[in-house]
Amino acid sequence: MHASVSAAISPRVVLATTAEQMAAEELVRATRVEVNVPDELSRSFARLWLAFCPDDTRAAGLLLAWIAADELHVIDVVTRPEHRRRGVGTTLIATALAAGAARNLRLALLEVRAKNETAIRLYAAAGFAAYNVRRRYYADGEDALEMSLSFASRPELHP
Ligand SMILES: CC(C)(COP(=O)(O)OP(=O)(O)OC[C@H]1O[C@@H](n2cnc3c(N)ncnc32)[C@H](O)[C@@H]1OP(=O)(O)O)[C@@H](O)C(=O)NCCC(=O)NCCS
Repeated sequence: MHASVSAAISPRVVLATTAEQMAAEELVRATRVEVNVPDELSRSFARLWLAFCPDDTRAAGLLLAWIAADELHVIDVVTRPEHRRRGVGTTLIATALAAGAARNLRLALLEVRAKNETAIRLYAAAGFAAYNVRRRYYADGEDALEMSLSFASRPELHP
């Protein structure tokens, strides 16, 4: 791997507004993640965070979450392939969890393809634990793993 993109970095994370719409849409196109950026930016309960690496003007990663009552639902997380394994995903999740803790939310929830070991490891490292398997949840027959994190059990997240 090229040295300039393999080193761990400290990504800058911003909560996207319409000012970041084009950067977010470019990343969505590049990663083919199924996120409709204008729709999400217009939803009062949606939060779209973008990560930027110091060596790239394009967005390196995004995390989309919905706040429903006292729950933070992590809808999607993606890192641009050339910036993976540099801490972008970890930083995005830490940002979303800190925001959830600051709002006194109770639970963070997500579902992930059962074979997506990379994402499962990332979520487990952030404190999520699997609590259920939804059999054949996806159209291609793959199971979904449901994971949760209780903010009350993670006092270090609270500001
Ligand atoms: C999952 C994903 C977001 C991780 O993003 P990332 O920016 O590479 O994550 P990080 O660099 O913060 O890595 C965090 C941890 O995830 C795990 N991880 C990341 N990439 C990995 C890989 N290729 N193999 C194994 N574990 C991996 C490791 O535990 C890693 O910690 P470590 O580097 O200290 O060992 C990224 O791989 C991705 O965009 N995948 C495609 C989209 C996707 O599957 N999203 C999840 C949908 S639910």
